[in-house]
Amino acid sequence: MKIAVLGTGSVGQTLAGRLAGLSHEVVMGTRNVAESLSRTTPDAWGNPAIGTWATQNPHIKLVNYSEAAAFSDGIIVHAMNGFAAIESLKQAGEANLSGKILLDITNPLDFSKGFPPSLFVSNTDSLGEQIQAAFPTLKVVKTLNTVTNPIMVNPSIIPGDHTIFVSGNDADAKAQVVEVLKSFGWAAHNILDLGDITTARGTEQILPIWVRLYGVLQTPMFNFHLKVAH
Ligand SMILES: NC(=O)c1ccc[n+]([C@@H]2O[C@H](COP(=O)([O-])OP(=O)(O)OC[C@H]3O[C@@H](n4cnc5c(N)ncnc54)[C@H](OP(=O)(O)O)[C@@H]3O)[C@@H](O)[C@H]2O)c1
Repeated sequence: MKIAVLGTGSVGQTLAGRLAGLSHEVVMGTRNVAESLSRTTPDAWGNPAIGTWATQNPHIKLVNYSEAAAFSDGIIVHAMNGFAAIESLKQAGEANLSGKILLDITNPLDFSKGFPPSLFVSNTDSLGEQIQAAFPTLKVVKTLNTVTNPIMVNPSIIPGDHTIFVSGNDADAKAQVVEVLKSFGWAAHNILDLGDITTARGTEQILPIWVRLYGVLQTPMFNFHLKVAH
């Protein structure tokens, strides 16, 4: 497949690298290609700057949002800062998005008052729903937003069963995203379809407990395992 990854942070890098490793053709979307390529200072967690990463991954081209979305033949991975989520898609352009699947990983995190962050959308709405409402022809599927990026593409980092959630209005789009998740190593019985895009309220609201667990455990390498009594 020809897949666009919108976002150059650690999530965008991890997803783009893994998808290319699975033999997909991948491009990555950024605001300003030249400025992004000039970045070489790692982030606070030691993740490479996008300029360094792009040099190490020359097969993945950095382009603007509209070129990236136009390149995709069906799936666009959305790994944007939450505040920039809708603006990036406006810049991608309605015509380049129409009918395509948005594998949306974004969380509505607000770090403006420090750690822990709050959610800038919650309770009766979600970022996933806001994106779907703003772009009705896009098939938004929210997933992977409840785990740290290495686990997204390599769930076996955590031994045994653990759960990943999927939310979206379009059954076929969810089925295609589930195939992508399986290609990353997620077992079918650990992929839980929660229902329509309003269920993204639940998975985005996992983040307040997720950041508290991160603080207590001092590692992001954990996940939830849903167990049901029969
Ligand atoms: N980090 C994780 O493991 C993890 C796990 C689950 C979910 N998520 C979610 O995934 C998304 C991506 O996370 P991330 O850690 O990879 O990166 P991030 O720092 O949250 O976002 C970086 C991306 O946002 C873009 N962006 C566009 N406009 C922006 C603006 N005004 N301010 C800041 N950034 C802007 C940047 O564009 P440029 O390319 O132009 O710089 C860059 O591509 C977030 O919504 C996050 O909550 C992250």
